[in-house]
Formats: sequence, structure tokens, C-alpha cells
Amino acid sequence: MSMNIETLLAQAGCGRDARTGALSTPIYQTATFEHPELGRSTGFDYSRTSNPTRLALEETLAAAEGGARGFAFGSGLAAIDCVLRLFQPGDRLVVTEDLYGGTFRILEKVFRPVGVEAIYVDTSRVELVAAALAQPGVRAVFLETPSNPLLKIADIRAIAALAQARGLLTIVDNTFLTFLLQRPLELGADIVVYSASKYLGGHNDVVAGALVARTPALAERLGFFQNSVGGVLGPQDAWLLLRGLKTLPLRLRQQQENARLIAEFLARHPRVSQVWYPGLPAHPGRDVLLGESAGCGAMIAFSVESAARVPDILKRVRVFRFAESLGGVESLITYPIAQTHADIPVDIRDRLGIHDRLLRLSVGIENVADLLADLEAVL
Ligand SMILES: Cc1ncc(COP(=O)(O)O)c(C=O)c1O
Repeated sequence: MSMNIETLLAQAGCGRDARTGALSTPIYQTATFEHPELGRSTGFDYSRTSNPTRLALEETLAAAEGGARGFAFGSGLAAIDCVLRLFQPGDRLVVTEDLYGGTFRILEKVFRPVGVEAIYVDTSRVELVAAALAQPGVRAVFLETPSNPLLKIADIRAIAALAQARGLLTIVDNTFLTFLLQRPLELGADIVVYSASKYLGGHNDVVAGALVARTPALAERLGFFQNSVGGVLGPQDAWLLLRGLKTLPLRLRQQQENARLIAEFLARHPRVSQVWYPGLPAHPGRDVLLGESAGCGAMIAFSVESAARVPDILKRVRVFRFAESLGGVESLITYPIAQTHADIPVDIRDRLGIHDRLLRLSVGIENVADLLADLEAVL
């Protein structure tokens, strides 16, 4: 029977222990598995290759995303590292220009030195992506959408069609919206990437990453690298993620509702110069996003009139927590130039508009009145 996604997630990992009937998937805290005799295996040999708790999570992710196979890693960057191993020296990737600073760092400091080159493009402009895809050596497009921190929207359907026509891969970092709101594989993408430390885990208590591949052939290649390089997620953290996933629909619904009210409040506020939230009517990517997704998420960026006000705001917040990361039940305020985007050179940040007056909010599930009062007090 095919189930709705809320049901699939609520029952993630249930019914996997026939011997005891344990409802929750046990945490199989074991490195290795005993064999009954030579040539026979339980299906599990060694936990880097496969572990029952991680497998429950990986199967849930594949089903939720609608892909052939899911993979869980020790961090989002370990998942991105695994994807980038699909490429060879001389290969080039077209990449969203305002993306998470750690993704920029792995591309520039780890993969460029071995010959895999990123070409950065404003992927909210399909014509710029089309031109970049035509450059020699391009093998794939890597989209982060909505982008980080300025929440630019890429038209996944249009870009995946362009890439497919050239036989290129489309990879989407879906961290900000998740499969509940945005379904890249159904829009034509080949691989979805996550920092599962964010909405999928949802409680700011686990660092994890995930990949889902659309086809068995891609899954086989990614599975080879996952096992060969070994940046896998441990069973305890896999269990925490399974538990987090069960409430993702409820969390995200509340987070989005809070975010909409906060974005509207900031847009009206006299001490705020600009607000970036794809749900606001003025956001340039709003129509594309609403055409391809079921919601606008719960990330907001805004700028204040002067950088001199930023330290005071970060010091005085009481409900928002001054910390980097996003997607959890606790609301966070982040200063991108000093935290998430510190590894992006200043000239690039300036060109992208990631300046010293820009703050980013990850809206949680608290009572929105408390969040609004906190912002009102510090602004
Ligand atoms: C959009 C996005 N992708 C990838 C990552 C990297 O994930 P992790 O921190 O789990 O390694 C992050 C982390 O903040 C992120 O925000």
C-alpha cells in the first residue's frame, strides 16, 4: 500500500525487529556481524558497509525523496564529498554562486587542487546557467536552492532539462526545504544532497548528511564511494535522525507559519533595510518557487541600517540563540560574514551582497509572539 509522506515518516523504522517486535528500530551498536558459516551472511558484514540502524534511515530517506537509494554520512560535507568523487581531473561543475561557505571551501580547497573546477553562476538566472553548461568540460550542475544566505531561487525543472539535454548530472542541495516542500528528483534532478544536521534531524543535536540517488546506476557508484571512503553515520546518530524525521511535517508546518509572520514583521520594521524571504510578494524568486514547491521554508535574511548595530543585536537576543546552523526547533540568529560564510573571500562576498549588515534567522517552533517580542526589543 502506498502511504502518504506523513505516515511514512511517523512510522520510520517501525517493524524492523521481527525477533522482539521492538517498535523503534534498535540501535545496532556493533562494528561487525557474526557469520553462521563460510559463504553465509545475515546480510550485514561490517558496519562501514552497512548497519541495520543506518539502513532503516537510508531506506526511509530513499522512500521519502522518491529515489532508488539513500545514503547517510557523518556530516553534510561528507555527503557532498561523496558526490564530488563522481568527477575526474579536468571535469567542471556549474555551481550556485551564493552557497554555504563550507561547500565553497571543499570545492575550492579540496577539489580544485585535484583538478575538479567549479564555475560559479547566479543560478536564479536560467540563461546564465545555460551559457555556463555549454562551456567545455562541464559534467554537472550543483544547485543550492533556496541559496544561502540570500534565498535566491533556481528553477530546478528548467535547469535539470537543460542539463539532461547535454547528458549532464543535476545535483540539488535540498537542505533548506526538504523533500516535504521541494522534490528535486521529480523535477528532473539526479542526486539530492542534505545537511541532515538541519531540518531532517531538527533538534540541533546531531551532525549528519545524506544523499539520495534517482537511479540504481548512480546509487551503485555513490555506494561504492560511501563504503570505500567511509564517512558513514554511526548507529546512535542514525537513530536520532530517524526519531527526528518522524515529526518533520509538524515541525516544518509551525516553523513556516512562524517565519511568514516574522518576515512580514521585519518587512514593516523601520530599523530593517531589507528582508529576503521567498514567501514575501516582493521576493524575485517567489513565483518560480511556488511553481515547484509546496512552501517557502523558514529561513529569513535581513539587513539593518548599520553594521555597528549588529554586535548589540547578537548580544541582546533572548529567545533567538546566536549560533550557526539552522532547521532545528530552537530559533537561531546567525551573522553570515563571521560564521557560515567566513570562508568566502571578501571580494566575492561583497559582489554577492553578503555584507556586514546582513543577519540570518532560522525560525523554530517557539510561540511566535515570543520571537516577535525578542526582535522588537533588539531592533
Ligand atoms: C545548505 C547547506 N549544505 C551543506 C551544509 C554542510 O552540512 P554539515 O554542516 O552537516 O556538514 C550546510 C551546513 O550548514 C548547509 O547549510
